[in-house]
Amino acid sequence: MFVTIEGPEGSGKSSVTKEVVKLLEQDGEIVVLTREPGGTPIAEEIRNVILDKKNTAMDSMTEALLYAASRRQHLVEKVWPLSKEGKIVISDRFLDSSLAYQGGARGLGIDKILALNQYATDGFYPDLTLLFDLDPRIGLARIAANNNREVNRLDLEKIEFHDSVRKTFLELAKRFNDRYVVLDASKPFGEVVQDAYKAIKDRLAKCK
Ligand code: TYD
Repeated sequence: MFVTIEGPEGSGKSSVTKEVVKLLEQDGEIVVLTREPGGTPIAEEIRNVILDKKNTAMDSMTEALLYAASRRQHLVEKVWPLSKEGKIVISDRFLDSSLAYQGGARGLGIDKILALNQYATDGFYPDLTLLFDLDPRIGLARIAANNNREVNRLDLEKIEFHDSVRKTFLELAKRFNDRYVVLDASKPFGEVVQDAYKAIKDRLAKCK
């Protein structure tokens, strides 16, 4: 099973997911947690280029192509082989981040970015996508308060950009409602962990 974790900056998705992985492992599941952009050495090198704060001249389509390139490498080297071995692969961000950030917020168009990604991924989709929905004002305030979280090039975008990311994610949740589960990430941490865990268990029960 391939699960993707999506949401705006500071939605707590990465910390929650780490806790959910522990719960799944306690149930005897073999889980691999990975992330995008990155997840393999080549894809991490592409990540450094994309997120580098000094790359202010990067064209939006170049950005979209780099995310798609890093995604392809991540799938080939990691996600596909591990899924074939029957492991649960959970990726912190995947395709839908490109649709929301590059397609929606950057204004390149969801369908154009979907087509680009279908080419890059051979039309591969996650079995389940958890959307950690949150007002970006809350998320960005959390990041500002957390000294351990490095600020990247996309965090520095204006609030309208982040509002557009959220809006696009919610549109995607409607469009792909067969694989999406929307979680309220403004709830207390422990409750969001339970909601995310339950969503994955429900989907596992359907897959088995
Ligand atoms: P990261 O530090 O991993 O942020 P987060 O903790 O919020 O996941 O940085 C990833 C950034 O890249 C984040 O701002 C979202 C953005 N992104 C895209 O714009 N398109 C994509 O396809 C992906 C995977 C990420």
